[in-house]
Amino acid sequence: MPMACVAELVAHWHGRFLEAGVDAPRLSAQLLLAYVLGMERMAMLLARDHPVAPEAEARMASLAQRRLRGEPVAYLVGEKEFYGLSLTVSPSVLIPRPETEGLVDIVRRFVPADSPGLMVDVGTGSGAVAVALATVFSQARVLGLDISPAALAVAATNVRRLHLASRVGLVCTDLLVGVHLDAVCVVVANLPYVPEGRTLSWEVVGFEPAGALFAGPDGLAVYRRFFPLLASMPRGGLVVCEVDAEHASQALALVPSHAAQAWLELDLAGRPRYVVVVF
Ligand SMILES: C[S@@+](CC[C@H](N)C(=O)[O-])C[C@H]1O[C@@H](n2cnc3c(N)ncnc32)[C@H](O)[C@@H]1O
Repeated sequence: MPMACVAELVAHWHGRFLEAGVDAPRLSAQLLLAYVLGMERMAMLLARDHPVAPEAEARMASLAQRRLRGEPVAYLVGEKEFYGLSLTVSPSVLIPRPETEGLVDIVRRFVPADSPGLMVDVGTGSGAVAVALATVFSQARVLGLDISPAALAVAATNVRRLHLASRVGLVCTDLLVGVHLDAVCVVVANLPYVPEGRTLSWEVVGFEPAGALFAGPDGLAVYRRFFPLLASMPRGGLVVCEVDAEHASQALALVPSHAAQAWLELDLAGRPRYVVVVF
């Protein structure tokens, strides 16, 4: 039998994923085949008539079966892009989302690129925001904090991979416990904010860590403990948090009263998703 070519395999698995109701069926087929072939997705698409060896076809079929059961592509290939950086991910960490890049964009509006300040990323997970900040602010030091040792192990891989170990530290702690904020210029946080009981896609609930997602009946249980810990933020310090659009006003109301200014910002879809505070 002749070997199947790239275009045929992509079309085959795209069809199967579509039928099964998998999220992003075409992109899933392309990303998985590119991973199996060890090629960039665009380069693979340009080589559409390229024959695929039977071993690669079999490897693709085994990953595709897992994708059909809902396993996210990022976990299958062990990587996800965030802020232009390729990050290692595993089921111990939330897969970084594009809207979280907004945290870095907001910090960039307030802090000069050559700032040598200390920035803290609370609930760092894969370290996505911490390494993005350290890349954008090339003189800054960044501290990534998380309560999950397994997540911090993934973050450590990313810090090493991106050669940022001299400027990015990682610490296992509950929120900001044990952290002295007096010398900190920026705190960013993407803490769990999904209300328990909300219906989420099976691809999220079935595979991503519950401890990275859920925060009590109204989704504010973690932020309710976080905001009072900002009491010693220095004057002029900036705090930017990602929150649930449906509870953004309640999250804003949790900001300590001694803050100089606090407001909500919208994501690219026009939903209120970020609490911004200047102390
Ligand atoms: C929504 S994920 C965000 C991960 C990463 N910052 C990102 O944006 O992709 C939330 C992270 O907060 C961590 N977390 C949950 N409760 C925490 C707590 N009390 N203290 C520190 N980290 C916590 C979880 O382990 C998880 O890694």
